[in-house]
Amino acid sequence: MVADLTGGPSMPLPPLAQIPPQIAAVADYEAYARERLDDAAWAYLAGGAADELTLRANREAFDRVRIQPRVLGDMTGGGTSLDLLGVRLSYPILLAPVAFQKLAHPQGELATVLAASAMKAAMVVSTQASVALEDLARAAETPLWFQLYFQADRNDTLRLARRAEAAGYRALVVTVDAPVNGVRNREQRAGFALPAGIEAVNLRGMRPMAQTVARAGESAVFGSGALDAAPSWEDIAWLRTMTGLPVVLKGILAPADARLAVEAGASAIIVSNHGGRTLDTAPATLEALPWIAAEVRGRIPILMDGGIRRGTDVFKAIALGAAAVLIGRGYLHGLAAAGTVGVIHVLHMLRTEFEIAMALAGCRTLADIDRAALWTHPAPGQL
Ligand code: FNR
Ligand code: LAC
Repeated sequence: MVADLTGGPSMPLPPLAQIPPQIAAVADYEAYARERLDDAAWAYLAGGAADELTLRANREAFDRVRIQPRVLGDMTGGGTSLDLLGVRLSYPILLAPVAFQKLAHPQGELATVLAASAMKAAMVVSTQASVALEDLARAAETPLWFQLYFQADRNDTLRLARRAEAAGYRALVVTVDAPVNGVRNREQRAGFALPAGIEAVNLRGMRPMAQTVARAGESAVFGSGALDAAPSWEDIAWLRTMTGLPVVLKGILAPADARLAVEAGASAIIVSNHGGRTLDTAPATLEALPWIAAEVRGRIPILMDGGIRRGTDVFKAIALGAAAVLIGRGYLHGLAAAGTVGVIHVLHMLRTEFEIAMALAGCRTLADIDRAALWTHPAPGQL
């Protein structure tokens, strides 16, 4: 057997047929996922941009925040439900848009949508899904939102939006933080390319985006035409006139952009750095969240994602201004390890942990989770 320097299996294992009792937390799925993917697919799913500093910062930011326990409060009649963009959700955890899920599991997004339905979680379907958006809508028994990437041709963008509307999606989530790909060194080193049989099926027949590659002596980004097709604030206004669906902007990290998003009529924003996959050394999302919340002042709901692996992470995000959170790699690991059942288990563990955090912090409802639910006193050395 040839030694595998990156720790992956020389022959990926099949998905688990049942969940081993050793899996007690979301993070436990990561090793099981790793064993079931080849090095290239793993580099795509797990990797971040460049030195992966933002990828790591997302998690570290959660670990730095402390929750304030409270005791003996009356918790009767408590719960975790909320209304978001006209949809009633049982708990504030959604599935983030993740492209090409057939890389993780043969059934891809279809396995995920069955899990979301079983767990009554809303799912955001990627433009670059490896299963058709209509097929997912037919299988879904839960609200779906469609993540829209603006296409090189605005007519194609509109076609995607119309298809999502016709299929019954409840919102359009325009991802605005990736007009060009980040510097994906981990993927480059692993030689990642989409395998035969996995493609962005929703984009068949559409004009592809310009690629940011250039010959020596040419400008790779500004000279490639890629940015000419990138959407602007005017395009967001245009999209709003073309659709009856709520438009959500995903990938906001600057308070100034949050303000522009409110002015542009966004129905919600998602504080996100794309799971550390776009601009490396961008702030952790939990760091950015309170500043964005201060700018938005409750005018529209704020969602956030990046690094969420624990129910306490969900709690901290809500305490700092999020109405709800999305998870990406956490459920992707469950999907790779065990398909639908794995994603169900991930959602179940997160939801349970979140309820435990609420109970032990004395928060009866989501509205009770605010700054006062966090430990904000200085450390002894800083007194
Ligand atoms: C993503 N993300 C993403 N976002 C998006 O708007 N459209 C997409 O197609 C994808 N595709 C995608 C693929 C993979 C493999 C990953 C890991 C991520 C970003 C995703 O929606 C979300 O912002 C992050 O995954 C959140 O961070 P965590 O939960 O993965 O730490
Ligand atoms: C990614 C793109 C598909 O993060 O959004 O890989």
